[in-house]
Amino acid sequence: MYRLPELKKNTNIKAIAVMTSGGDSPGMNPAIRSVTRAALNQGVRVFGINRGYSGLIIGDIFELKSSDVTNIVQRGGTILKSDRCEAFKDPVVRNQAGEILKEHGIGGLVVIGGDGSLTGAHLLTHETGLPVVGLPGTIDNDIYGTDDTIGFDTALNTALEAIDKIRDTAVSHERIFLVEVMGRNSGHIASQVGVACGAEMIIVPEIDFKLDALCFSLANQRAEGRGSSGIIVVAEGPKSGLTYRLANQLETHGEKPGVCILGHIQRGGRPTGHDRVLASCLGAAAVTYLMAGFTDIMVGMINSKIIATPLLDIMNKKKPLNPQLVELAQLLHK
Ligand code: ADP
Ligand code: F6P
Repeated sequence: MYRLPELKKNTNIKAIAVMTSGGDSPGMNPAIRSVTRAALNQGVRVFGINRGYSGLIIGDIFELKSSDVTNIVQRGGTILKSDRCEAFKDPVVRNQAGEILKEHGIGGLVVIGGDGSLTGAHLLTHETGLPVVGLPGTIDNDIYGTDDTIGFDTALNTALEAIDKIRDTAVSHERIFLVEVMGRNSGHIASQVGVACGAEMIIVPEIDFKLDALCFSLANQRAEGRGSSGIIVVAEGPKSGLTYRLANQLETHGEKPGVCILGHIQRGGRPTGHDRVLASCLGAAAVTYLMAGFTDIMVGMINSKIIATPLLDIMNKKKPLNPQLVELAQLLHK
């Protein structure tokens, strides 16, 4: 379990850089700490890049010492800040970024972020030749090549804490609540949150949803004397406003649903133990792969084993949603 890769040092990289990019996720800090300390322990200098690709393209780069990553293993967010940077989609800008890294004597880069950030990482190494290793840092858990992304477990538990509270009100007032969770185009957060909170129904972009089926299930529940309360977990999906539209539709069917959009609360907070261990293992492994001469890969964890996957696969392959979780929630509710 959690065995770090046993790879020999095969480069003379003297300094590496680390950055966080895209939506922040709890566990980015322990990942930064792990990358920094693993490299320093091998005599490699470490640079932090502020605000992801936005900081990189203006050279907002500073040297990280061991003391800079003290007392961050338990902190949410990212000490390196994060950002979204449209300009990085321009190959000319990426080429300039490569030059900036070389000017600093940086021989390898670790990018911690979601699928967009990892796409940028692939293009950067492909076009400039600078070795780049990615780590999956996003609450969405939508990245191929790893069972869990760094931050997913914390987001799951944050959502559950909130929903358990909402259920108290739902039961007291005999009401149904639509609770919207994040996840962008994917239902990975919704499907796990839904099973774990005992949701009546889970609505995800990957599976067709029928309003009639939901109304039928709510009516059945009442007919069987099981009350009128319930939680329906809705994945935000690609277009905003879905949950309110759904609530309006339910109202036309005589329901009076409450709506709660959990939003960015899911991105914050101290990382869970699972996220801290995952981030620590993957951070150290990223350094090992870089020093062994690997590039254009993402390091993830599959079945408790550290696995490197080409960034091209990360970009082109979709992590499938397990539809059984959505079915299970309904089954366990009958
Ligand atoms: P995440 O990494 O969380 O998926 P985004 O999709 O917003 O978040 O991507 C984060 C950043 O990664 C973008 O703002 C951009 O700087 C970079 N990025 C995303 N897609 C590309 C792309 N096709 N080419 C180059 N850079 C990209
Ligand atoms: O990718 C992480 C994520 O939180 C998604 O779940 C969500 O759709 C998006 O970022 C929200 O982005 P922003 O913080 O820019 O509103």
